[in-house]
Amino acid sequence: MTEYERIIDSVFESTSQLDDKGNLATYIPELACVDPNLFGVNLTTVDKTHYSAGDSDKKFSIQSISKVLSLALAYSTKGEKIWERVGVEPSGNPFNSLFQLEADGGIPRNPFINSGAIVVCDILLSTLDNPKKDFLEFVSNLGGHHLEYNISVSESEKSVGFRNIALCNFIKSLGNIHNDPSEVLDLYFNLCSLEMTSKEVSESFLFLADKGRRFSDSQCVLTTRQIKRINAVMQTCGFYDESGEFAFNVGLPGKSGVGGGIMALHPNEYVITVWSPKLNKKGNSYKGLSFLEQFTTATKDSIF
Ligand code: DON
Repeated sequence: MTEYERIIDSVFESTSQLDDKGNLATYIPELACVDPNLFGVNLTTVDKTHYSAGDSDKKFSIQSISKVLSLALAYSTKGEKIWERVGVEPSGNPFNSLFQLEADGGIPRNPFINSGAIVVCDILLSTLDNPKKDFLEFVSNLGGHHLEYNISVSESEKSVGFRNIALCNFIKSLGNIHNDPSEVLDLYFNLCSLEMTSKEVSESFLFLADKGRRFSDSQCVLTTRQIKRINAVMQTCGFYDESGEFAFNVGLPGKSGVGGGIMALHPNEYVITVWSPKLNKKGNSYKGLSFLEQFTTATKDSIF
């Protein structure tokens, strides 16, 4: 048994016993139907070795984890110009907050809060011929998977997505949305509804740990400078107003989603994905955070 295998098994065991104080993301009706007891972990190393525990082959709604993939696609097609439309500073506010936008003239603080991801969707709409299809193809090719949006989840969120609708219209009024807001939001809700297993997430995000080389065929999809920058923004902004705490406790760049997934990576080593659907008050997986803190403590290895 390798060291990673031993640590994953033992941390999985202890985290499974935790009294989970989280709650499902009921504000998206479809996500309220997920079995709250599912719990999966996968670690994939840059030399493509896998270590898994629990429900690592079960699909879940990746939600905001997709914000990293939409940023990667926009960055690879538009280059540094994207930073004229979205910033790279932590917001210190909840992921769906409206209030800094007016003072910031419609430029969202970073691409991982909802406002920033909505602007990235607007960039994709202006750049790609068929944004929904092209995004799915980009992500499927990263890991060599067949991936789909979950239309019930995207429709469910759209039916109650009043805050995101407000964000998009507000940014439009400030001049930083160039397309029809309903088209931008349709793309945004679809991207959030993408489903993957923990193992597929680890494989798909391996390019961020492996100098831009994707898992499927080792082709470089981003430059090392672009990888450095995306990982830096994940480190400072990947967990919204809990980003400092995640850096403090785990010490890896990462990104969470309200489906209960967390993806974190150690550059040049591995990607680790943990999925447990119940969330803490900041919208991050309760058990996922605990697992990752115990994991990097036990491996005695983080980026710091
Ligand atoms: O827009 C929303 O509220 C969701 N589709 C995504 C939010 C999310 O995952 C933030 N994560 N912690």
